[in-house]
Amino acid sequence: MFGQLFYKKRKFYDDDFDWDNYTADSYHRRLKGDVEVEFRAISKAGQLQFDAATGAVTSQGQPIHPNQCMILEAIGQLAPQTVHEVGCGGGDHLANAATLFPQLQVTGGDRGTSQLDLALQRHPQLAGKIGVQDITMPFSHHWPQVDLVYTQAVVMHIHTAVSHFVALANMVRMAKKYVLLMENPQCHNFVRDIIGLHDAGHFEWDDLHLYQFTGSTGALGILLSREVLDFPPLTSDKQIRENVKPSQRRLRRGDDDSARALFGFSKLG
Ligand SMILES: C[S@@+](CC[C@H](N)C(=O)[O-])C[C@H]1O[C@@H](n2cnc3c(N)ncnc32)[C@H](O)[C@@H]1O
Repeated sequence: MFGQLFYKKRKFYDDDFDWDNYTADSYHRRLKGDVEVEFRAISKAGQLQFDAATGAVTSQGQPIHPNQCMILEAIGQLAPQTVHEVGCGGGDHLANAATLFPQLQVTGGDRGTSQLDLALQRHPQLAGKIGVQDITMPFSHHWPQVDLVYTQAVVMHIHTAVSHFVALANMVRMAKKYVLLMENPQCHNFVRDIIGLHDAGHFEWDDLHLYQFTGSTGALGILLSREVLDFPPLTSDKQIRENVKPSQRRLRRGDDDSARALFGFSKLG
């Protein structure tokens, strides 16, 4: 009987949202009410500029969201030919990237069909470039292989079993050069989990270099690179949480998620 009670106390976490109803439940409202009140979400040609000398993106007129600015600056500085956004939602980052860097080939995936419908309503030019993708599924050879894979506010919401580990490993496998994460650093022990996955042989890349990528407006990203780059190295989660007010709930859940990892099989021979 005590055993049964103990069993019932086991911890189970789910993803933060029901992704099938996410657009209707909250995303559409958040885009309109939070993002679009303060920031220009969709930029036309000429409204954004990338300065290669400083690495900064500037906006004419209304500002753009700092997180989007950081993503566009990373694209400008890393100069990939191809990018893929995992969890592209309404498609604004992808569409703005394609507008700012006209030579760039963009693709995006999302597990929510209503999010993808919203992306096509907002950006009809993304037709044929975005599709259904659950990044926590076993790797698919239909997914694009690109220079840079990025996310914004996706992995932070994934808490079902070991799915966020699978998502990270899949993104590395999709990327020829870089993975960029624009995520709340308290929602997972991103640095610890990434290093754990790499050390235990779960990543496609032999070499992994981890950097902190800071946008000109202060947004902070985690950059995984196959090659050595000239950015501040990232060695701990503490480093990227320095200016964040601690949320004990999130930090505890992140520790519980990390503890689900079972690493151990050593290379034989
Ligand atoms: C908070 S929204 C962010 C959307 C977009 N990146 C943005 O910044 O506006 C999270 C998005 O991730 C998608 N998502 C959640 N889990 C996913 C998964 N396992 N694979 C792919 N997309 C996922 C959701 O459907 C949703 O569109």
